[in-house]
Amino acid sequence: MKLGVVILAAGLGKRMRSNLPKVLHPLAGRPLLAHVLEAAQRIGAERRVVVFGHGGERVRAALAGQDCIWVEQAEQRGTGHAVIQAMPAVADMDRVLVLYGDVPLIAPETLRRLIAASAETSLGLLTADVPDPTGYGRILRDLDGQVVRIVEERDASPDERMIREINTGFLVADCARLADWLGRIDDDNAQGEYYLTDVTGLAAQEGAVIASTQPDAVVEVAGVNDRVQLAELERVFQRREAERLMRSGVTLADPARFDLRGTLQADMDVYLDINVIIEGEVRLGAGVRVGANCILRDCRIGPDTEILANSVIEGAEVGGKARIGPFSRLRPEARLADDTHVGNFVEIKKTTLGQGSKANHLTYLGDAEVGAGVNIGAGTITCNYDGANKHLTRIGDGVFVGSNTALVAPVTVGMQATIGAGSVITRNTPPEQLTLARGRQITIVGWERPRKKT
Ligand code: UD1
Ligand code: CA
Repeated sequence: MKLGVVILAAGLGKRMRSNLPKVLHPLAGRPLLAHVLEAAQRIGAERRVVVFGHGGERVRAALAGQDCIWVEQAEQRGTGHAVIQAMPAVADMDRVLVLYGDVPLIAPETLRRLIAASAETSLGLLTADVPDPTGYGRILRDLDGQVVRIVEERDASPDERMIREINTGFLVADCARLADWLGRIDDDNAQGEYYLTDVTGLAAQEGAVIASTQPDAVVEVAGVNDRVQLAELERVFQRREAERLMRSGVTLADPARFDLRGTLQADMDVYLDINVIIEGEVRLGAGVRVGANCILRDCRIGPDTEILANSVIEGAEVGGKARIGPFSRLRPEARLADDTHVGNFVEIKKTTLGQGSKANHLTYLGDAEVGAGVNIGAGTITCNYDGANKHLTRIGDGVFVGSNTALVAPVTVGMQATIGAGSVITRNTPPEQLTLARGRQITIVGWERPRKKT
């Protein structure tokens, strides 16, 4: 069975009050449309077709990496009209599944169930029983409980409006049959639109059995029309991810104050304090503890390492049993070995820090190779940039760099060397020796302070 998925995403999204097309608004850090494309991928869709609206170039550009076909619907003349535009792109498929670019939480399991439920028929609908059906199309059934038609709210009689089984919009159909039905719908209704829902009546008239199933949770079929709904779905998504992580052995100090915008692979007994944000691909070894307000993006942290509060780590690798923070910033290509300590107001970029080395306070290390067992004193700066190019600083094993040292790269500090505090090091220093580069301290005996003239 070849499955084609058509994703409707041509709506204007006026109620977002945004310059950004609605389907590009992020949920968990990714465009709404990316979530829907992923759902289609996960059910094994052979082809994915996105119907986009006028001015949708931004949508295409934002999702350029996706393997899908883009079909423009220049004028929004209804959901039926939108699907008609996509039909040529799925003509060689067996079945067509219609999804929505602004309904991001649809679960692959629900879609699989819908497809399975309609395996023997030419049309299947996803419906939902809701307490307040206002605004939705209603499912009309005959006395045997067979679906006969969908009526839109605006076209419905008062009796029909009492029905609480609603059309979610999701449907799966035999490709050839759907093309035929769509060729016969018209726009003779309250909104003057071509309704996708009208294929239901045509199918029933032909005597087709219309299958139906319901989602596990109504939130799966909830659409995003404004930023309030977007925020609601974000919380639902985050709650689910938090629960999944907790079940897999991660402790969250408060699941309501945790945000995942990517993937987190965590070994056992990881502890995340409140307001931790995980972005991109993050891996945390067993027993890692992350303090409050940390942001971790595309990084790997080794087992039993502790990241203290308010640290920001991006594109970095940290070994085991290390201690980072509070208030540390690790930038791309920071590679910290086991047992390293990095403290407050320390920034590290494109730098390796060998085992057991420490930079505990107020330091910038950029473009540096720091050996093992090194102590970097407070206020040490690698002057890696001359205004045009970046240069390397090499610091050998066992070096002690005194506080407030400027290391003007390119420069090498030999192993076991000691650099006196306050030095400006512009040339390579020999190993094992004390090097100082600062004004000598003198005392002028008998010097008197100036006095105010009377
Ligand atoms: C539609 C259904 C209704 C269902 C409801 C569920 C129809 C006629 N009605 O109503 O039965 O209860 O969804 O939310 O299908 N779109 C396009 N091009 C268009 C029109 C719409 O791409 O020309 C897209 C929109 O971007 C949106 C989706 O289709 O994502 C639904 O369109 P919308 O106008 O919101 O349909 P409803 O009136 O809510
Ligand atoms: Ca709608």
